[in-house]
Order: sequence, then C-alpha cells, then structure tokens
Amino acid sequence: MTILVTGANGQLGREMVLALQADGEPCIAIGRKELDFSRPDQVADTIAGYAADWVVNCAAYTQVDKAEEERELAFTVNRDAARAVAKGVKCSDGRLLHVSTDFIFGGDSSYPYKEDDTTNPLGVYGQSKLEGEQAVREVLPEALILRTAWVYGVHGHNFVKTMLRLAAERDELRVVDDQIGTPSWTGDIVKAMRALVKENASGTFQFTNEGVTSWYDFAVEIVAGAKQAGFPVIAETIRPIPTKDFPLPAKRPAYSVLSKEKIRHVLDYPIPHWRESLHAMLESEKEATK
Ligand SMILES: NC(=O)c1ccc[n+]([C@@H]2O[C@H](COP(=O)([O-])OP(=O)(O)OC[C@H]3O[C@@H](n4cnc5c(N)ncnc54)[C@H](OP(=O)(O)O)[C@@H]3O)[C@@H](O)[C@H]2O)c1
Repeated sequence: MTILVTGANGQLGREMVLALQADGEPCIAIGRKELDFSRPDQVADTIAGYAADWVVNCAAYTQVDKAEEERELAFTVNRDAARAVAKGVKCSDGRLLHVSTDFIFGGDSSYPYKEDDTTNPLGVYGQSKLEGEQAVREVLPEALILRTAWVYGVHGHNFVKTMLRLAAERDELRVVDDQIGTPSWTGDIVKAMRALVKENASGTFQFTNEGVTSWYDFAVEIVAGAKQAGFPVIAETIRPIPTKDFPLPAKRPAYSVLSKEKIRHVLDYPIPHWRESLHAMLESEKEATK
C-alpha cells in the first residue's frame, strides 16, 4: 500500500513520512516545492497522477494570526486545495485522510467537543479549515477526517520549541492560563493516523493526548522537563497571565478539549497522557540536538 503525504516538511507531515520510512512502507513525500496549494487548479491532477492508495493531507495554511490579514490565501490553501486533493483522490480511486483542527469550534463549551457538535470558528484560520472539511466531504463522503489540537513535535515550529528557546534566554516567562486544551505529540497523532488507515476508517474522528491543561501549566511542565533532560534553562519564574494581557490578532477558543470517545473504539492501545508524551518528545528533541 502506497501512502502519499502532503505537507511533508511540516511538523505532522514530516513525522508521518519518517514513521512510514522507518517501517519500510512505500511512501511519497510531497512538499510545497512539488505541489503548491496556493494554485489549487494543479492540485487534483497531480494528486491523481500519483495514484496512491491513501493520501494523508497534512499541508495547510497554519498561521492563525497572519490568516486574519491573508484571508484569501488561507481559504485557497485550506478549503480550495483541500477540495482539489479530494477530487484527485476520487479520480484515482484512492482513500483520503484529511487533517483538521479544534479551531472549528467556538470554545464556549463546558464538556469535550464531540465530532458532530455545532461548529463556530472564531477566526479566519478556523473558518477556512471548517470549509475545507465541508469541501472534502462534498467531494468524497467516505473521506477520513481527523481533527487534532495543540500540536507539537521535534520537526517544525511549535509551543514546546518556543518555550525551550525562551527558557534559555529569559529569567521570566509569561504564559496565558485561561485557555484550556490538550497538547498532542506528533508521534502519537501519527500512530493514531496509521491505526485509522489500517482499519480503513471513514468519517470524522478526533485525537489528542489524554488530559486537560492550560498553556501556563503546559509551559511549567515543559520548563521542568527541559531542566530534567539537560536543556539550558535560565527561566526562574513562569507567570500566569490572562489572554487579555497577551493580545493577538486572532481570537482563540477558551475551551478546546476534543472528545476521543469515538477514536478509542478504533485504537487497540491506551492513548498516552500529554505529560508522558511531552517527556518522550523532550528526550527525542535532546537526541536530535546532540
Ligand atoms: N499546529 C497545530 O497546533 C495544529 C492544531 C490542530 C490541527 N492542526 C492541523 O494539522 C495539520 C498539520 O499541521 P502542522 O502542525 O504540521 O503545520 P505546519 O508545521 O505548519 O505544516 C503545514 C505544512 O503545510 C505546508 N503548506 C503551507 N502552505 C502551503 C502551500 N501553499 N502549498 C503547499 N504546502 C503548503 C507547509 O509547507 P512549508 O513547510 O513549505 O511551509 C508545511 O509543510 C494541518 O491540517 C493543521 O491545520 C495543527
């Protein structure tokens, strides 16, 4: 079975490609150079031409704040190119795993969002990803859509890497404590994606690590883990602050916990807690930076 991965240089795509290659699975890695999603007219034919058994679409416009000013580009990449990927997959009679986000929800819930709960994106990025999901379903009703949240890993840019850098540069870090969610390690997301593919799953699923935390508590654990793992740390104080003291162009959901009840029935292993996976990632990061 050949799996084509788009966004192969991003944090999730890279992890997927390396995991497949490590297991000797046939894999086609596609980056922006090979296929530019800002030109969706070329996307369907190119995807169809590869005739892969599965396409895992990890490419996306992910700059949440910049999307507020680059609205058109965000919709082109996240909606129009996603639709074109689905068309290409349909044409070559393959299967599609399309990756989506917790940002399609409004963050005003008091219980974990289920797959079919009402959506209410707060910004351009979330709206473009929601319309991407809808476009994919219109073309390929049997597509597999996996929503995840708070993604971090060894490859690319993310919150953990930012905290590691800042903890090495500053005495004090200020981190918001009124946004709640669940960090998700790319290593665990990839394992879940591969399990869904193996099961030939269809429809919408959600995956994050176990547990719930705030960005502040996540940062505290990152810095503690960084010290333990031997990263340079000078930060002595981590100060919790409200979102209103850290204004950004795009509004974020205050509560962003995704229900994993549905995916639990597919996975034949317990989903790791975010703390456990954070420490595994820090060990890998330490190895990678040696
Ligand atoms: N990051 C998160 O916290 C998070 C949370 C929930 C869901 N997700 C979803 O998870 C998926 C993977 O995200 P990620 O965290 O791996 O993001 P990422 O590291 O930003 O990777 C996204 C990839 O998409 C590629 N891309 C962007 N614009 C493109 C274009 N015009 N043409 C072709 N490729 C383009 C990027 O290429 P370059 O490498 O060339 O820039 C990058 O490799 C996305 O669907 C995202 O919406 C992410």
